[in-house]
Amino acid sequence: MPEKGAETGVETGADRVVDEVLALFAAHGHATYSERVTMEQHARQAAALARAEGADDALVLAALLHDVGHFLAEADSEFGVTDHGTSGGAWVAERFADDVSEPVRLHVAAKRYRCFVDPGYEAELSPASIGTLRLQGGAMSADEAAAFEAEPFADAALAVRGWDDGGKLAGDAAGGLEVPPVDHWRPLLVDPGLRR
Ligand SMILES: [Fe+2]
Repeated sequence: MPEKGAETGVETGADRVVDEVLALFAAHGHATYSERVTMEQHARQAAALARAEGADDALVLAALLHDVGHFLAEADSEFGVTDHGTSGGAWVAERFADDVSEPVRLHVAAKRYRCFVDPGYEAELSPASIGTLRLQGGAMSADEAAAFEAEPFADAALAVRGWDDGGKLAGDAAGGLEVPPVDHWRPLLVDPGLRR
């Protein structure tokens, strides 16, 4: 029996999206994210941290997919750095609901916002993240920060940002955190409640 509200072909569409996500991780997940983790390890750690902190399914999925823009723009690394929130957010928005895609879109802005409101934050960033901050425009201005705060998903983006910053630990058992494989999150990827 199809679930209430499900449309014909939803299952096929969900399977296609799972295939797309897994294919992106298979093709690009081995790429280096930092000196300590690959792109895939980073994404898996971010999702695991989100779950460990009791985040809802939409935010866990956002954490898993937050850097998908890097996968889409691998051939152009500078574009990937500066615009991976926008490009990744657009890709996610074609497939998932706003509470998944918006935190992805805003997670780079969230870093720039944190740098504006919290002077100690930049010092906590990884060396790579400090380097990319310059390319991304540095700390927000007061006007930019006010616009960010007006975003409906600003808090969600800040939460994803925190797991992004935390998901840079060496090894799969990062700091004792159980870090499941990408496929573990398949139920979220096919959840009609999280889909566009
Ligand atoms: Fe990230």
